[in-house]
Amino acid sequence: MSSIAKFFHPGFTRMRPYSPIEPPDQLAKRLGLPPEQILKLDANENPFGLHPDLRRALAEEKYLHVYPDPAQVKLRAAIAAYAKLAPNQVVAGAGADELLDLVMRLFLQPGDQVLGFSPSFSYYDHVVSLNHGKYQTYPRKADFSLSLKEVKEIDFSAYKMVILCSPNNPSGNPVEKKVLEYLLQQDLLVLLDEAYGEFAKEKGTDYLAEHENLIILRTFSKCFALAGMRVGYGLMAPIIAQELMKIKPPYSVNVAAEALALKALAHWPIYAEQIQQIKASRDWFWHEVRKVPGLTPFPTEANFILCRVTGYEAKKLKEELEQEGILVRYFAQAPLRDCIRVTAGTQAQMARLLRALQEKMA
Ligand SMILES: Cc1ncc(COP(=O)(O)O)c(C=O)c1O
Repeated sequence: MSSIAKFFHPGFTRMRPYSPIEPPDQLAKRLGLPPEQILKLDANENPFGLHPDLRRALAEEKYLHVYPDPAQVKLRAAIAAYAKLAPNQVVAGAGADELLDLVMRLFLQPGDQVLGFSPSFSYYDHVVSLNHGKYQTYPRKADFSLSLKEVKEIDFSAYKMVILCSPNNPSGNPVEKKVLEYLLQQDLLVLLDEAYGEFAKEKGTDYLAEHENLIILRTFSKCFALAGMRVGYGLMAPIIAQELMKIKPPYSVNVAAEALALKALAHWPIYAEQIQQIKASRDWFWHEVRKVPGLTPFPTEANFILCRVTGYEAKKLKEELEQEGILVRYFAQAPLRDCIRVTAGTQAQMARLLRALQEKMA
């Protein structure tokens, strides 16, 4: 054993690494395909890419040589205006991932328990463990919904926090209002992850006025097409925001990311239109894929579709699509072993995916 090993924090040495997504250029090289043949439908990114106005804004950014504003004055004000809240209710970070980490760091003491509803976003388990908490899960029903009746039967006294993802990654269904309302009434912190909120019918921001125990997380990675820039934010009571502002790394939202996030918010109508297009191609694909024998899509309010695969191995299907340069997400754990999750891309991209699926499942 290395002499360094004894210095490691024992809590981390047992942790499994977070499973990463392979960048498209590396994947193209591994598969021996031209990069333009790669159709990336595995990470729920915006298929329209960086808008030309934002690309120009990046090229023209004057302050890349100085540190960003640690108080995030402009960014917090712009996000607040967008979310119809006050700037002191907003904290931005390097992706919703960083906000998740900061929230756990702020609230968790060793051994504190956090409840999630599985299956859900796999980073929750990782980030709770990183912050010395214990992530426990309560299983969703077979259709991945949460029933109020069952939620009411849970004894929450052992938990400090619950995490709800709405729409839920990877199933796409939103949390029902009455479930959220019930959880908000408990003596608990409620972390509502709305990474895909812009694609959904309902959002949770209206509850912030009445519920100090609610923290909402959002991101610029999905509908705003800025996943590579790493900007996310939390919406919360001012008292929580104040504490998070104290503990966050001062400069985690870099100058380029801040400039592009501001520009994106100023260009909201462009994204509103893209969201409509993505929802249209998603709904078209959803209806078409239902006709493919062996594929059953779950209802979704997100920019992705979870499909159950029967009579064919889902893992094999994912690997075969990959050979053609089409990347979809496969989860090796139950109850998702027989599912693939596909991002809603453009109409042309969804048509290419559908053709490939029709061929393989025929
Ligand atoms: C449910 C959910 N929450 C949070 C994130 C993290 O988003 P970000 O890119 O802002 O870190 C993701 C990314 O896939 C997600 O699916």
